[in-house]
This record gives sequence, structure tokens and C-alpha cells, in this order.
Amino acid sequence: TYIVNDSCIACKYTDCVEVCPVDCFYEGENMLVIHPDECIDCGVCEPECPADAIRPDTEPDMEKWVEFNRKYSEMWPVIITKKDPLPTADEMDGKEGKMELFSE
Ligand code: SF4
Ligand code: F3S
Repeated sequence: TYIVNDSCIACKYTDCVEVCPVDCFYEGENMLVIHPDECIDCGVCEPECPADAIRPDTEPDMEKWVEFNRKYSEMWPVIITKKDPLPTADEMDGKEGKMELFSE
């Protein structure tokens, strides 16, 4: 599966949702997640994210991100249409320590 990590927080560009063939992105207040059981591992969303927030779970130490994505994808609504990025997107792209800004 692929997952969204904290690089999405406060950016939420949403380019990713337009290309997903199975519509498995879910939207929180300031980030998206992927449902790990619905993702078919096609990989097309990864290069679409300007914030480089979409990663394969084959990278090291991904278990916590898989669980994070699963948890919130079961709580948040699906998103299938691109929308404007958050107003803070360009300023926050690439910033460290974004988890402090996460809002459920
Ligand atoms: Fe959707 Fe493919 Fe990205 Fe999985 S890897 S979230 S199926 S676009
Ligand atoms: Fe987030 Fe990147 Fe999608 S910033 S909303 S994962 S395009």
C-alpha cells in the first residue's frame, strides 16, 4: 500500500485524489490519508504530490503510518475531487515538525 505522511499537513494540495483509480483518499481538516486496505498499490498518486507526502509502505518504519492512515480513513469522508490547497500550503511545504499542527 501507499500512505500519506505528515508532509501533507497544512498543505493538502489534493492533486492526488484526481488520479486514484479506486477513490481511496479520505479528508481531514488539514491532511488526507489513504485507506491501506483499499489502495491497489498502483503508485500513480506518488509523483502527483507537490509536497512528496505519499510514500510506499516498503520504506523502513512505515508501520505507524499505515496504522495512522487506516485509523483516520475509517473516520473521515472520502474525497474524489481536487479542491484549492490550504492557504498555508506553499509556506508550509517541506517544513519539519508538522505533526504538532495535525487536527482531527
Ligand atoms: Fe490510489 Fe494507486 Fe495511490 Fe493507492 S497507489 S492511493 S490506489 S493512486
Ligand atoms: Fe496531501 Fe499531497 Fe495529496 S499534499 S492532499 S498528499 S497531493
